Amino acid sequence: MKNLPTNISFPRTRMRRTRMRKFSLDLVQETRLSTTDLILPLFVIEGRNKKEEIESMPNIFRKSNDLLLKDIEKCIELGIKAIAIFPNISKKLKDDIGSEAINPDNLICRTVRKIKKEFPDIGIICDVALDPYTLHGHDGLIINEQVDNDKTIKLLEKQSLNQAMAGCDIVAPSDMMDGRVGKIRDFLDKNNYINTQIMSYSAKFSSSFYYPFREAIGSNYIGDKIDKSSYQINPGNCNEPIRGVSMDISEGADMIIVKPGMNYLDIIYRIKKTFKFPTFAYQVSGEYAMLENAFQKKILDKPRALIETLLCFKRAGADGIFTYFAMDAAKEIIKLN
Ligand code: PBG
Repeated sequence: MKNLPTNISFPRTRMRRTRMRKFSLDLVQETRLSTTDLILPLFVIEGRNKKEEIESMPNIFRKSNDLLLKDIEKCIELGIKAIAIFPNISKKLKDDIGSEAINPDNLICRTVRKIKKEFPDIGIICDVALDPYTLHGHDGLIINEQVDNDKTIKLLEKQSLNQAMAGCDIVAPSDMMDGRVGKIRDFLDKNNYINTQIMSYSAKFSSSFYYPFREAIGSNYIGDKIDKSSYQINPGNCNEPIRGVSMDISEGADMIIVKPGMNYLDIIYRIKKTFKFPTFAYQVSGEYAMLENAFQKKILDKPRALIETLLCFKRAGADGIFTYFAMDAAKEIIKLN
């Protein structure tokens, strides 16, 4: 901090002076939240007027896409500009290679078309990974007991194009195969989807905080034992995600994601500082579950604690945040501004 004057000292300097009045507290606030920072993840199921509880995520529901439209309408009213949709499909449609992922009439494609028809301006983000579609629950193809990188990419290219053709704005590869961003970009371009954006889960850690999500999409029946550490990042590493992000940026990613969120603020900070690139945090299902349980038991004050978690993502360097609390957060942000 070589620009700092050396004579900052008490009592001439009182750090509390600006904190004493609300107006100056607001004037000197360095980071602020906007409803446009928020991305709401949504879980979709087949049917009409259907809503299912997710045991490990209190207050979050899987919904049929007619009901999702109502949520999306509320998002728009609140100033939320983007959603991420995740399917929970029937086990009968799953197989070992995730074939349903490339069916042009699968649940996610039908949902995208339905949303786009009703709300053409909302940004729709679709996950690119095979886990909602495979019986084993891994994100890729298993060959000789290993998730096979290059063969998985062939399917991910098709899955991405499938979603782009349905009208999705952003494909978000969350599978963590090496080289998939470049291959997906080339495949989309070759098929004239030059403006479909790629938001890559570039710094995705092998985290125990994803378990509630796996229940939500119905890929948890092999229990907590599924081990994705041969493709997701070891939580002990901070240089490795930087290399991963640099690969994805050089392969044509438009935006990148750091995931999970709260335990990984140092990663967000380093990545933003290193690349100065659009960077998003994902406050994942396990973080949601921890917080919501504490809110329901009144251990934490929901509005304050929630806003604090989100503000800290921005302070660390995130441009936006995926959060299951997006609607509640938006209501609080509107009150604050
Ligand atoms: C699937 C995927 C996961 C999440 C988003 N996409 C889980 C996983 O990798 O096992 C986690 C989201 C959350 O926990 O909220 N590839």
